[in-house]
Amino acid sequence: MKALVTYYSVTGNTEKLARAIYEAIHVDKELLPVQEIKSTMGYDIIFVGFPVQAHSVPAKLIPFFRGLTAGQNVALFCTHGSLRGGQLPKQALEHAVGLATGAKIVGTFGVRGRVSEKVIDALMKQVEHRAWAEEAQGAHEHPNETDLTDGKEFARGVLAKIGR
Ligand SMILES: Cc1cc2nc3c(=O)[nH]c(=O)nc-3n(C[C@H](O)[C@H](O)[C@H](O)COP(=O)(O)O)c2cc1C
Repeated sequence: MKALVTYYSVTGNTEKLARAIYEAIHVDKELLPVQEIKSTMGYDIIFVGFPVQAHSVPAKLIPFFRGLTAGQNVALFCTHGSLRGGQLPKQALEHAVGLATGAKIVGTFGVRGRVSEKVIDALMKQVEHRAWAEEAQGAHEHPNETDLTDGKEFARGVLAKIGR
């Protein structure tokens, strides 16, 4: 049984969650930023994490998703500024599922992640984005310990689901 935990992270939130997931799984495992992956062959499960950007998956991750082998077990996780459990992060995860055509999605998970001040300040100045920027300010203490604990539980649930 071999697991890969991989992530794309700009400001470190998704990396923090990836590390928690990596810690929680007690199997042969690797933790790598997505930019360092040469091949996705040979893993029984791949956990893939990303920050929600523009309500979707960062463009940099698209080739990675497209390159996944058919039937590959994949669990998706993300961090996002908007409220946990809301429609917007759900939409971004659904977009990722759509990109990973052929892969077997065995779970999805998302928690809030602090949004950089630069982004909040820029959005606050635009009337159409102000409401979202105000909501995103509430993410400043995330991911917190509860988020990371939930991420670990998610990871263990995924392994149980694939029978490990
Ligand atoms: C360019 C940009 C666009 C973003 N768009 C969204 C968004 O549409 N929805 C959302 O909930 N969060 C959005 N965020 C917030 C990030 O998803 C959030 O801060 C995330 O935790 C960053 O993760 P990272 O530290 O791993 O890069 C955006 C952040 C940036 C920088």
